[in-house]
Amino acid sequence: MKTLISQEQLREGIDQLAKELRTHYDGRPLTIIGVLIGSVVFLADLIRRIDLPLRMELVQARSYRGNSTRPGPLVLNLDLLSSDVRGRDVLLVDDIFDTGNTLWELLPLIDELGPASVRTAVLLRKEGRCEVSLKPHHVVFDIPNVFVVGYGLDYQDMYRNLPYVAELEPSDLAESGH
Ligand code: IMP
Ligand code: MG
Repeated sequence: MKTLISQEQLREGIDQLAKELRTHYDGRPLTIIGVLIGSVVFLADLIRRIDLPLRMELVQARSYRGNSTRPGPLVLNLDLLSSDVRGRDVLLVDDIFDTGNTLWELLPLIDELGPASVRTAVLLRKEGRCEVSLKPHHVVFDIPNVFVVGYGLDYQDMYRNLPYVAELEPSDLAESGH
């Protein structure tokens, strides 16, 4: 496993995003909707840097991968959304924009709830993978097309607790017997 984005780089990148959000929302209340599970570490660090009246909500997206690094069918679950997002400014936050299908499928479902606005922010975006006509409004880091883990991102539900983002190497795939 090889470190791709260090703790220090994560801190600086997220500070920069918090600044962009402060400028964009300019004191208006913000509702952040995080996409479980991968975004939790990013979310926890991000919300503590945002100096705005803030609500937090969660939705769940799963693409069953089994022991592959390729995505399977996508399952979305909005049951965790508790408060009414109608009329609110919403920021949808995910860990990584890979093919883009997760945000592409989630956005219309959020739109149906009648928010005042919806923007999207992701920690990572993989180069050359996008399959949809959608660009996240905020991207903290662009990365090459490699499989990454850590800082919330998993391989077979492991490695989410690494405090940095690492590239999974072929030898890690072979070794991991989870
Ligand atoms: P998309 O729908 O293809 O954009 O994929 C987004 C989801 O796939 C992310 O929220 C992650 O859960 C997962 N994913 C995509 N690439 C990686 C990766 O390199 N490591 C870990 N999870 C990934
Ligand atoms: Mg995810």
